[in-house]
Amino acid sequence: MVAVVIDITQRKAAETALRASEQQLKELLRLKDDFIGIASHELKTPVTSMKAYAEIVKESMEQLGDKQNSYLLSRLNQQIDRLTTLIRHLLDTSRISEGQLQLVFENVDLNSLLLDRVDEIKRTTNHQFICHLGKLPAVQGDRERLSQVMTNLISNAVKYAPASTTITVFTELQEATVKVTVQDEGPGIAVADQQKIFEKFFRSAGKTENAFQGMGLGLYITAQIIQKHGGALTVQSEPGNGASFSFTLP
Ligand SMILES: Nc1ncnc2c1ncn2[C@@H]1O[C@H](COP(=O)(O)OP(=O)(O)OP(=O)(O)O)[C@@H](O)[C@H]1O
Ligand SMILES: [Mg+2]
Repeated sequence: MVAVVIDITQRKAAETALRASEQQLKELLRLKDDFIGIASHELKTPVTSMKAYAEIVKESMEQLGDKQNSYLLSRLNQQIDRLTTLIRHLLDTSRISEGQLQLVFENVDLNSLLLDRVDEIKRTTNHQFICHLGKLPAVQGDRERLSQVMTNLISNAVKYAPASTTITVFTELQEATVKVTVQDEGPGIAVADQQKIFEKFFRSAGKTENAFQGMGLGLYITAQIIQKHGGALTVQSEPGNGASFSFTLP
């Protein structure tokens, strides 16, 4: 009888302790999200000003014909762009955790959005681009966010596939869904990692993790944006034979 009472008392104490640590963990996670949200928000303003000043100085250097300083300033601009993307990823991640990722829906022509993205990214790399664009109806979506999705997928292809390889983008209409695919000729993704890459902060271990900068947020944000549109993001890859990312939208 005594033994049974002790057992129940011990179990209750253990349950109370477990609930307390769960509560503590939740509170810590909330503080972490708050920190990421506040820090990224505060970093955004000075970085935006830095970018504006750097652009102005670069233009004056170009007008003066000062090639060396123009080159240095274009490198500075590239690094500021990179910083802006990192801050944007952190801000978006914090918005997603708080359920604050808002979409503004309008009619979007996916083909022209995709061509704009390809044209812009093409200028920054020597990868070859091929576009196979099917005839698509306008979709209801958030233009800015869908553009961000395309940028993330194409930038990953550029980042992970070796220079001068080909990146192919496809669009097609499949019954009531439109499908956009970005295919590269890079190292591909290990089968065990193929679901994990959509998780927050996940980066494949090994060569790519050390050789390329990144926080492992691009695909997480991309998947969340597509989900909020009622669509799906998938990956197909045979390691060593490139990767192909597709998203569908209703
Ligand atoms: N096209 C690709 N080819 C090979 N591996 C890829 C490709 N796209 C993504 N990955 C793998 O998936 C991981 C997660 O990608 P994700 O875009 O989320 O993060 P990241 O590129 O590491 O950093 P960032 O937050 O700057 O985007 C990458 O670290 C990489 O290992
Ligand atoms: Mg990425």
